[in-house]
Amino acid sequence: MKINKTSKISGFYKKSIDERIDLISSIASLTEEEQSLLFKALDKGLADRMIENVVGTFTLPLGIALNFRVNNEDVFVPMATEESSVVAAASKAAKIARKSGGFRTESTDPIMIGQIQILDVDDVATASEKILQEKNKLLTVANAQDKILTNLGGGAKDLAVRILTSSFGKMIVVHLYVDVRDAMGANAVNTMVEALAPVIEDISGGRVRLKILSNLADQRLVKSRAIFDKDLIGGEKVVDAFLESVELAKIDPYRAATHNKGIMNGIDAVIIATGNDFRAIEAGAHAYAARNGQYTSLTNYWKDETGNLVGEIKLPLALGIVGGAGSIHPTAQMCKKMMRISSAQQLSELVASVGLAQNFAAVLALSTVGIQKGHMSLHAKNIAMMAGANEEDIDRIANILIKEGNVKLDRAKELVKKE
Ligand code: MEV
Repeated sequence: MKINKTSKISGFYKKSIDERIDLISSIASLTEEEQSLLFKALDKGLADRMIENVVGTFTLPLGIALNFRVNNEDVFVPMATEESSVVAAASKAAKIARKSGGFRTESTDPIMIGQIQILDVDDVATASEKILQEKNKLLTVANAQDKILTNLGGGAKDLAVRILTSSFGKMIVVHLYVDVRDAMGANAVNTMVEALAPVIEDISGGRVRLKILSNLADQRLVKSRAIFDKDLIGGEKVVDAFLESVELAKIDPYRAATHNKGIMNGIDAVIIATGNDFRAIEAGAHAYAARNGQYTSLTNYWKDETGNLVGEIKLPLALGIVGGAGSIHPTAQMCKKMMRISSAQQLSELVASVGLAQNFAAVLALSTVGIQKGHMSLHAKNIAMMAGANEEDIDRIANILIKEGNVKLDRAKELVKKE
């Protein structure tokens, strides 16, 4: 049987969980063993090897966002999140973008920065010159630390020197630029900068303090763009309302923080599902959003010549598909297989597209009906569950709460008592 590798499956949310698993498994060719991971906790021994003082595992719901088409390829998007509406909103936005061809992406090479902080240098200008003169030697020492990476075409490619003024006097900060290929890169970079520290002390005559990766991965940038057809979102009036909403995020950090939080709702969910480091991505994204001195939006929107809305996101995404927790966590490995990801760059381009989709969906709701309407249905179900409703009564009680416009725990408890 020829399987249609589409990411557009109508009525997916109405199917039972088992039916959904069957469908996704046949399209993504998941084995029975892989399918069995979907509702299985992490193995005790593995958990114990991953962190310290293990007493259990903590699970999150894993949903699949549909309709994503990125660079002409359909892709399932696994999302691990505790927040209701995130998966539905991403799928809805991807459906609208899909009508105009989906998401188009670009990304730089996967270059990470390692920092080396040098203190106690009398003449920082001369010491900086000396470091730059010894660049080739320093790159050779760095690359000797990771033959596997250099054999793959990665490795330390360049370095730069910055002079900073501080309350401890002038300090030099060396930036080592490392192409980390398909890894997130922290281990490779940290090993290199630690190995360089004594050599740099010799060259500069100073004292090295910090030697560590920077999470402001502004040499590892990803861009994704999509067109949202005005006729699918309520016409030009809605496009105008949307642009007014986005303007506030551009000029006001208070709004930009929430706007970017909405972006990270999508991004973090995929990052967690693929076993990547979401704190690194959060740190990089927010630092990048403040790169010009004022914290601002990570997305930009405008109207094209036909009145359609064009959206673009640009941010650093230090994601890996080899090494790290994602390589040992079985569910993360299965998620990457489901996405048919073959490089870290491809994963980051998909993740950026999810961030744009999530942001578009949130701002569209905010510019039209408001956010609560979409949140209410699942929220009401959660309230019904919290009030102790039985499995078969949850939907009915949630519907009453919504109809009465009173989605409150007290009212839900009253309704449960009446059963
Ligand atoms: C809620 O998790 C995210 C939103 O607040 C994002 C936004 O305001 O753009 C809805």
